[in-house]
Amino acid sequence: MKKIAVFASGSGSNFQAIIDVVKTGELEADIALLVCDKPEAFAVRRAESAHIPAFAFNPKEYDSKEAYEKAILEKLKGYGVEFIVLAGYMRLIGSTLLGEYSGRIVNIHPSLLPAFPGKDAIGQALAAKAKWSGVTIHYVDEGMDTGPIIVQERIRISEKETRESLQKKIQNIEHKLYPSILQMLLTRGEVQSDEKARTY
Ligand code: GRF
Repeated sequence: MKKIAVFASGSGSNFQAIIDVVKTGELEADIALLVCDKPEAFAVRRAESAHIPAFAFNPKEYDSKEAYEKAILEKLKGYGVEFIVLAGYMRLIGSTLLGEYSGRIVNIHPSLLPAFPGKDAIGQALAAKAKWSGVTIHYVDEGMDTGPIIVQERIRISEKETRESLQKKIQNIEHKLYPSILQMLLTRGEVQSDEKARTY
């Protein structure tokens, strides 16, 4: 079973979805570590409840991105982590981590990339009066949400859509899509073609 680390910065609802499917056996992976750049984030509490080790750090206590990424790398190696799952981690991955894990880091983003990269993708889609949005899972490179796309799922934005309703729709998709795609990537190394684009 592959050892994975999940990186999060906030509530960690995607992290929880991953914990839950590992428990049921639908996702054959060993969550070896949570990495969190906000020690007070709820994701850290979720790790505690699930008895998953957490490396919660404050980036301000390090001199540079390279310095805190070196500290992360040491932890990842110590736990034998083979694959990194970003789930709401609000920092760009730098060359220290990419140098070791390139091609083995994935991210989930709440828009149809390349539309609306970066922060508040849901707010960006609503402000642009987009008719469609969705979820993208992609490999991570040095850019902001620019890596090769693995899978996308589209949803219609209705005329009456609110931030809350769109967020809920997106989260419902994320919590099912991420575990199922991770299972394919971790056990087969690829994603079935009929999974690559779905519309609701
Ligand atoms: C998700 O919408 C994910 O797509 C984005 O950040 C959000 C994290 O939410 N990258 P949560 O912390 O998993 O609840």
